[in-house]
Amino acid sequence: MEAEANSGSLEDSWAFIQSLGEGCRTVPLAGHVGFDSLPDQLVNKSVTQGFCFNILCVGETGLGKSTLMDTLFNTKFEGEPATHTQPGVQLRSNTYDLQESNVGLKLTIVSTVGFGDQINKEDSYKPIVEFIDAQFEAYLQEELKIRRVLHAYHDSRIHVCLYFIAPTGHSLKSLDLVTMKKLDSKVNIIPIIAKSDAISKSELTKFKIKITSELVSNGVQIYQFPTDDESVAEINGTMNAHLPFAVIGSTEELKIGNKMMKARQYPWGTVQACFHYPLPCHAVENEAHCDFVKLREMLIRVNMEDLREQTHSRHYELYRRCKLEEMGFKDTDPDSKPFSLQETYEAKRNEFLGELQKKEEEMRQMFVQRVKEKEAELKEAEKELHEKFDRLKKLHQDEKKKLEDKKKSLDDEVNAFKQRKTAAELLQSQGSQAGGSQTLKRDKEKKNFF
Ligand code: GTP
Ligand code: MG
Repeated sequence: MEAEANSGSLEDSWAFIQSLGEGCRTVPLAGHVGFDSLPDQLVNKSVTQGFCFNILCVGETGLGKSTLMDTLFNTKFEGEPATHTQPGVQLRSNTYDLQESNVGLKLTIVSTVGFGDQINKEDSYKPIVEFIDAQFEAYLQEELKIRRVLHAYHDSRIHVCLYFIAPTGHSLKSLDLVTMKKLDSKVNIIPIIAKSDAISKSELTKFKIKITSELVSNGVQIYQFPTDDESVAEINGTMNAHLPFAVIGSTEELKIGNKMMKARQYPWGTVQACFHYPLPCHAVENEAHCDFVKLREMLIRVNMEDLREQTHSRHYELYRRCKLEEMGFKDTDPDSKPFSLQETYEAKRNEFLGELQKKEEEMRQMFVQRVKEKEAELKEAEKELHEKFDRLKKLHQDEKKKLEDKKKSLDDEVNAFKQRKTAAELLQSQGSQAGGSQTLKRDKEKKNFF
């Protein structure tokens, strides 16, 4: 463009300068340059890197989750059937490396264990929500790292949630509605009617209508196959009308006619799940039995990339925004001016330090208050002890005085006795001198004396 501007007339130069302000001009090429290979370069790079896809199967125990996964990917994934005695809902995750032609796929299948088996099902959705959030959190932490290696990071975010509905033919269970409502802002939900061979054709049509109306009336957002891309708009539009898909799972392969088919054999006949690969998957006679082929087409062949894209741009973005806002990050300050990360960090740090200081001051005040209270308590105890000591001292003095008085009176008595004794002895000695005649008289006196 620069060369052209330099070599052209003054008018051309002026047009070039103007175009810099207005945008790009379209310039015809004289020959082949090669940037039309850019999409091929991207394809090659993606094929080399491989893809990853994570499926979450939510559904009651024994609804055919594992069988459907085996049927979908035409293989046998390991996995033990769950018992109905689980105390709570758990999630079991397994990752597999699959290869089809030269394309590698790291597939993670997460399945609920014990879902719907508890008497109180109030919190059954929680472990699922927590699991989905934990995968978002792990990705966010990787993104926020200083040295991040996102290209090599194993992205465990759930791209699609296949929600297995029991083929009751009635209506959705409260557990299904509550769980789907809690999940719809976090993951792309594709509802499917499991074991649909258990339900008749007319019942199935009514059941589908009932489920759809219940989802709408409860405001549950399920994944809609995108119709903005012309190449898939028609098929996706048609398939949206078929939701929820009614599926049958089977790992058994039966020879029907001269074709090998995934089917379930019953005493009364055979139900076909799908044709064996690589036979055409869109055979109508097969789809007359169930929507398995529709599910496989929509999930894997047509919309896998959209599911990955929606997970990143819609669900993860929402999680990231809420999380960063929770941490105090904002795009604009109160005056609608852009907020830099540095400023946000500083503001948050100052806020934190302020809070810390406030807490410290509160604790100091509390400590001083407690010390004062303790001091007052001790003073009160000391005063009580002093009073007690004074009381005891006074009691002791009174007792002492009483004893002294008693001692004095006893001493007086002893002295008086001694005096009388001396007087008696004196009398006795005088008597013995005076003669025996008076002995009788003395005896009498002595008697009187005592
Ligand atoms: P847990 O992992 O234990 O929760 O079970 P699950 O949901 O993985 O079910 P699983 O695939 O183990 O299937 C349970 C039983 O249902 C097995 O006997 C399957 O053969 C049977 N089953 C699976 N899919 C279907 C189906 O579409 N129709 C019928 N009639 N039976 C099916
Ligand atoms: Mg299973």
